[in-house]
Parts: sequence; structure tokens; C-alpha cells
Amino acid sequence: MNTQESKTALITGASSGIGQELAKLFAKDGYNLVLVARSTDKLNELGAQFWDEYGVETTVITKDLSEENAAQDVYNQVKDKNIRVDILVNDAGVGLYGKFATETDWEREKSLIHLNVLTTTLMTKLFLKDMVERNEGKILNLASLVSVTPMPLMAVYGATKAYINNFTQSLINELKGTNISVTALMPNATDTDFFNKAGAANTKVTENLDDPAVVAKDAYNAFIKGAHKVVPGSFANKALEVVSYITPQETLAERMRKSMEPKDEPKTEEKNNTAAWTWGISLAAVVLAGAALAVLYTNSSEYDKLRYRYKARKLKSGADDMFGDVKESLLTGLDNLKGAVSTAKEVVAKAKETFADAVAKTPSEVEEAV
Ligand SMILES: NC(=O)c1ccc[n+]([C@@H]2O[C@H](COP(=O)([O-])OP(=O)(O)OC[C@H]3O[C@@H](n4cnc5c(N)ncnc54)[C@H](OP(=O)(O)O)[C@@H]3O)[C@@H](O)[C@H]2O)c1
Repeated sequence: MNTQESKTALITGASSGIGQELAKLFAKDGYNLVLVARSTDKLNELGAQFWDEYGVETTVITKDLSEENAAQDVYNQVKDKNIRVDILVNDAGVGLYGKFATETDWEREKSLIHLNVLTTTLMTKLFLKDMVERNEGKILNLASLVSVTPMPLMAVYGATKAYINNFTQSLINELKGTNISVTALMPNATDTDFFNKAGAANTKVTENLDDPAVVAKDAYNAFIKGAHKVVPGSFANKALEVVSYITPQETLAERMRKSMEPKDEPKTEEKNNTAAWTWGISLAAVVLAGAALAVLYTNSSEYDKLRYRYKARKLKSGADDMFGDVKESLLTGLDNLKGAVSTAKEVVAKAKETFADAVAKTPSEVEEAV
């Protein structure tokens, strides 16, 4: 049931992640919606779902907000449809991973700046002017916890979020005494498609992500009350913000750099398990080769027998080397590997017996003959 008959929230980036979770909360509270993103189908699906569940109306505007004039075009479409926007949520944003000097592509960075900075700024300007005329309205801008820290390996993205936060805090001051509130949302790393799209899916920061539904819920509650900023989620997130204000920039940059680096190699245990499998397969191959040689040996001419004996000798020496390596991995390895290695030892012992038998029959002139 629509409890906010005349209220409309316009949300950019509502097709996924935090924006979508926010859209659900506004719909649940009875706001009509204007949803803006590039994925028309997803927005239409959401619109249909909101109508069914909450009886609210959704207007979908398909727009690539990184394009020139995108914000003006969205504003014009809203005006043409005679929609009054009471709440503006500037959520749409993207990141880009890599070293600025040598790895990232300028065209993507330009488009990122356009979307995260220029579009957000112009959307705010256009809709805020109308809000000021009515002396009523609310704007939620997606900043980030990285808006108060440097962000090596996503330098341009971090800078755009610092801009959004700074811009928002200035507007809050300019709007003092009015009935309009502007809020900066500062989530920590959140479990959306963001890191994947940014090319940062394999970074350490993605090992501990916040739930977008929780981020949106905390944001929504604080935003409705007119908070200046929201750091959603755990106490640790809030502490991180405060610590960032008193920590030297260089130290912060180092810390952020670590979290943006690729995930660690598999742990020793995983590596050793892999090593045990590799040894097992190699040893099985040696045994099979030994058996094949034995069969060939019994069914061959005298000359070939000499060759097979020579090969058997080589195999024995290879098996001995391998056995040494297995012993070494036992010394450096973990307890749970001992079983696997002792099985491997048995296999090696059998292989050695086979080869020793073949080699014992080798006449002393074999080396010269082959
Ligand atoms: N995830 C995090 O860790 C995190 C942390 C702090 C802040 N944030 C911020 O939160 C906001 C939402 O990100 P998310 O994490 O929810 O990521 P997400 O799931 O990837 O959502 C991004 C949204 O932005 C829209 N979008 C992207 N490029 C667009 C374009 N050129 N034109 C129009 N819409 C575009 C996407 O829609 P289409 O693809 O359909 O166009 C999508 O709806 C971003 O501003 C991000 O910087 C994210």
C-alpha cells in the first residue's frame, strides 16, 4: 500500500548492489520510484515486483550516466513526465583497478570520472535547485569509506569518492537552515558486483565484505533522519573512519595498498596437499613404467633387453630422487600429510623392488653396450 502518495525517490544505479537494496526499502515504505541505469530489463523487473508487493509506481529511465549530457537528459525526462523528485539517490558508480601510471586505461578512467563525479554533481545541481525552491527534499550521495583514505591501485576511484564526500559536506553547510538534507554514505567494501566490474575481484579486500542489504538498511534509517554522513555496518567500520582522520596519509596509503593487493598464494597446507597428489601420480607413473619394462623385457631380443635394463636403471635412480623429495616434504609438511606420504613410501618401496630386480640381472657391460 502506498503510504507516501505524493513522494517520489529517484535512484541511479538501482539495477544491482547497494542501489537495488535501497530501492527495495523506499518501495517498501511506499515511495514511488524513478529508477535509472543501463539495464532496462532489471529495472522493469524491479518495477513490476514493487507494484505487486507494495503497490508503488516505478518509472524506468534507461541511461548511460557516463555519457555527456546524461544528467541533463534524465532531468528533462523527469520534467516531461511531470514527476516531482522528493528524494535523489546518486548511487551509480564504478571503480577501476590497476597502477595509474602503467596499467589503467585512460578512456575507462575518463568515463569513471564522468559517471562518479560529473553526473553526480550535475544531478545534484538540477534536482537540488527545485528542492530549494520548494524548501523540501533529501539527497543521498554514494561516497565510500575510502573517501577519507588514499586508495593505491584504485587511485582515480578513491579520488572521485573523496570529491563526493567533500562536495556533500560543503552542501550540508550551505543548506543549513533549510528543510533540505544531504547525506554522504560511506560503506566499507561491500559484497556487490563492484570489485568484479572494476577488475579487482582477486584482491585481499574482497575476503571480508559487508552485506549490501545491511549497508542499505543502515543508510536508509540514517538518511531518513537527515544524518550528514553514514558509515554503515560494524563498529570496526566506524572506528576505521575515525582512525583515518588521525593517521598519517602515508601510513593509511600503505594499509590500503596491502588490502588492494592480490590475494595470497594458496596456504602451505593446500600447497602440500597438491604436492602429495603430484607425487602420488608421479610415483604411480614410475610403477606403471616399471611394469611395462618388465613385460617388454621378457618378450624381447637380447639387444632390446640390454636397452630395457639400462632404462630400468635410469628409472631406479629417478625413483630414488623422488623418494628424497617426498621425505623432504614430510619434514616441512603438516601432520595430515603424513598418511599420504607413508602411502607414497610404500609405493616407492614396491617400485624400487621391481627395478632392483631388473637391474640385478644387468651385466656389467650394459653401460658400454647401450
Ligand atoms: N561495493 C563496494 O564495496 C562499495 C563501497 C563503497 C561505495 N560503493 C559505491 O556504491 C555505489 C554502488 O555500487 P555497488 O557496490 O552497488 O556496485 P554494483 O552492484 O556494480 O552497482 C553499480 C550500479 O551502478 C550502475 N551503473 C554503472 N555504470 C553505469 C553507467 N555508466 N550508467 C548508468 N548506471 C551505471 C549499474 O547499473 P547498470 O550496469 O545497469 O548500468 C548498477 O546499478 C557506487 O557508487 C560505488 O562506488 C561501493
